Amino acid sequence: MPGFRHLFVCTGPNCRQDGAEETLQALQRSLEGKNLTKKVRVTLCLCLGQCGNGPNMVIYPEGTWYAGLSEKEVEALVQEHLIEGKPLSCLLRSPSDG
Ligand code: FES
Repeated sequence: MPGFRHLFVCTGPNCRQDGAEETLQALQRSLEGKNLTKKVRVTLCLCLGQCGNGPNMVIYPEGTWYAGLSEKEVEALVQEHLIEGKPLSCLLRSPSDG
């Protein structure tokens, strides 16, 4: 796995409405299951300015933005992005997309 990652997961009201809590729980389960909790830090945030496209998340140091990240996609995200270093192209979003 590439180096340390810091994930900012939006749990603001709009993303919550879109399922952010379920996504977050699935993420935590996946990170624990793959023994990644020391290599990946998860920070909750109140709004990433992409409301209506959630659940939203940003991964650093890459600065990769994801939108519409449901609990179903979490396992693929952890495996492909965090472990293999290949972003999950179907859910990528630029913050300039509005
Ligand atoms: S509430 Fe999640 S981007 Fe605004």
